[in-house]
This record gives sequence, structure tokens and C-alpha cells, in this order.
Amino acid sequence: MTPNNRANFGSKLGAILAAAGSAVGLGNIWRFPYETGEHGGAAFILVYIGCVLLFGVPIMIAEFSIGRRSRANTARAYQILAPSTPWRWVGRMGVLTGFLILGYYVVVSGWTLEFIMEAATNSFAGKSADEFIASFSQFTANPWRPIVWAVVFMLATHFIVVKGVEKGIEKSAKIMMPMLFILLLVLAGCAVALPNAGAGLEFLLKPDFSKVNGSVLLGAMGQAFFSLSIGMGCLCTYASYFKDDTNLPKTAFSVAVIDTSVAVLAGIIIFPAAFSVGIQPDMGPSLLFVTLPNVFQQAFGSLPWLAVILSVMFYILLALAALTSTISLHEVATAYLHEEFNLTRNKAAWIVTIGCTILGVFCSLSLGIGKEYTIAGLTLFDLFDFVTAKIMLPLGGFFIAIFTGWYLDKRIVWEEFSNRGTLKVGLYRLLIFLLKFIAPIGIAFIFINELGWL
Ligand code: PFF
Repeated sequence: MTPNNRANFGSKLGAILAAAGSAVGLGNIWRFPYETGEHGGAAFILVYIGCVLLFGVPIMIAEFSIGRRSRANTARAYQILAPSTPWRWVGRMGVLTGFLILGYYVVVSGWTLEFIMEAATNSFAGKSADEFIASFSQFTANPWRPIVWAVVFMLATHFIVVKGVEKGIEKSAKIMMPMLFILLLVLAGCAVALPNAGAGLEFLLKPDFSKVNGSVLLGAMGQAFFSLSIGMGCLCTYASYFKDDTNLPKTAFSVAVIDTSVAVLAGIIIFPAAFSVGIQPDMGPSLLFVTLPNVFQQAFGSLPWLAVILSVMFYILLALAALTSTISLHEVATAYLHEEFNLTRNKAAWIVTIGCTILGVFCSLSLGIGKEYTIAGLTLFDLFDFVTAKIMLPLGGFFIAIFTGWYLDKRIVWEEFSNRGTLKVGLYRLLIFLLKFIAPIGIAFIFINELGWL
């Protein structure tokens, strides 16, 4: 426990892994490939990497600094660092964003449990690509099954969050992250060996810049914020549990490298496989779930037992990657309710669990019986995704950059970046420049360009 009696991550590696555990999740393996597919491939990836470097890493370091300096939940953090100012609304908006993301994220997390079952019962065997597509849309449109899985997933998240920071979050991240990475490497090797895989690799690696428009920029920026878990105070909350000697710039950079590698690896699995079996890369959120079973089938068709083992392992690891992210989303709102409203952690966690489960039920139904009810042409599921990833997170990031770059006393920023002068931070000036100018102007430009407002 730290002097003010809050919990702590036990080790430096634990801090990196917990933050990476939050960042690496469905955003990398499910969302990144379909956003890349919808936005034309390689050029999107380059814009994405640009967003990670110019906005992502500096804003992550800023969030870490705010969290560790204040040692409080994200809303209180602003109250401590900027008392009696409207800055606390940035923290509150973050809590709301996390709540909404968890509402639909848990639905997709639930799908991974269905796929563990399907893989374990060998039900991928003998299906064609079209059959995978049909059975997936039948499953997501079912009014019960996906909801039951989402509830199971929400409860698992709940109990880990209630168990506390070190035991729950750190331990699960330490074991599953390296395993997931190794399995992804194996699958990438299998995918590129499929017939016609070259076309998929070309799609992924050969940029066509004529395709870059406002929607590509907004998509890449939103994906960077979503994937890195920044813009809503999630990593700010985690950093409030960091130790005083955790190296913030190094941790942020490591998380960004791990996160981006996993996303690109997922692309190297999905696109060769999609092109190999004739699945359209721009088919949207179902891409991962209809493409991957083909990889297991085609690559290991002659060794069905191996196909079963590897596919079960993959979906378990995918579920665990999602779990370390749902835990972090849940923790933001739980820490807020617990510390701001004097509720026990248990009570605070139940409020979040029940609230997000209700949102999840509506999001899941919006893919089936509620399909007709749309807002601005989007189902509730798509609307939550659009509003949170493409608007609320970048907006949160915009304010975090301004807060750290302009408002916060530079002495505080320097002390946090350099652990009170004990670390050499060679890029300090560059980071401040990015936070002061490049991130806010870049985010505003992309908003104005695509959404026509601000
Ligand atoms: N970064 C997670 C992913 O890529 O799956 C999702 C996420 C977690 C977004 C936590 C935002 C957040 F605060």
C-alpha cells in the first residue's frame, strides 16, 4: 500500500503488463482488422501508426502523469491538480465513455465464449466460408445466446475487479500476454502459407494513398485511442496504482509497441485468410469471427485434433485478452463510484456491472430483433462504437493534451516524466511540443475535416 493507503501494482513489469493488458484486447484482434479492411488496408495502417506516435504515446504519458501524481480516480485527479475548475468534467466524461464502451465491448467479449464452445465441439469442421458467415449472423441475431454469454463475461469481470488490483489484474496479465503473443505468431505463420495469401499481404502492406480521406483519418485516430485505451482516464486510473519509480515514458512506449505489434500480427492472420477463402475485407465487425475458423480448418484440416486444440487455445486467449480490457474499463467507473460517493468497492462494482449489463442487452438485441431501430442510420451497437471510439475518446485526448501541455505546472510535468529528475528523458521537449501543439491541432483538424464541427 502507498502512504495514502491505495493499492499498488507489485512490480514494474506488473505495471507494464497491466497497462498492456488493458490496451491489448478485442481492439487489436477484432476491431483493428475490420477497420483496416473497411478503410482500404496499408494506407490506413500507416496513418494509424502516425496517430499512435504523434497523439497516442504523448497522451498516454500525460495520463500516466495525471494519475500517478494525484493517486486518485480520474475525476478526482483533476480536482486535485486543478481544484475548483471545470477540468473535472474531463474526468467525468471519461467515466461515462468507459461505461458506454463496456456496454458493447462485453457483447463482443461474450462472442469469444461462444467460439470457445464451438471450437471445443469441433463445429468448424467441414463448413464453407459462406456457412461460417451465415451461422455467425444467425448467432448474433439470436435474442438469448449472446446475451447469456455477455452476462457470464460481465460477472467474471466483476469478480476480478472486486478481488482488487494486484491479485486480479496483474496476475492475469502476466500469464496470458506472452501466451497470446506466441499463439498469434504461430497462426500468422499458418495464415501466410494459405493459398492466395499473397493478395492479403499485399492489401496489408502496399499503401494506396489515394484512398486516404477524412473518414480514414477519423477511423485511424479513433482506432489508435481505442486500442491504446487512452482518452478516458483508464490508464490514468491504472497509473494511480503505479509505484513512484515506474518509468512513465518507457512504460508508455513499451505499451504502444506491444499493442501495435499485436494489431499488425492480427492483420497478418486475418487478411491472407480472408483473401484465401474469398471473404470481403470490408465486411465489418464480423470479419474476425468468420475468417479465423477458416484458418484453423484449412491449415489443420488433415490434423483435426490439432485444429481443435489450437482453436480452443486461441479463443481462450482472446477471451482473456478481452477480460484484461473489460477489467480496466470496469475499474475506471468502480474506482470513481467507490472514491467519490463513499460506496464500498463491492457496491460500486455491482452498480457498474448491472448498468453495463443492461446496456449490453440492448446492444446485443440491436444486432437481431432490434435491427430496425436505428439512430443516424446506425444500430445501437454501431452507435456506441462510433460515438465512443471516434468522438469521445479523441475529445478526451484533446483535453488531456491541453491540460498537460498548457495548464499543468511544468514542474509537475517534468517531475512525473523524469521521476523527480532521477531519469534522463531525452525527448522531454519533443513530448511537450507534441502535447501542446501537434496532438490538439491534429485532433481538431481531423474532427473538422470529417465531422464538420468545432
Ligand atoms: N484497448 C482495449 C482494446 O484494444 O481492446 C479497449 C479499451 C480498454 C478501450 C480500455 C478503452 C479503455 F479505456
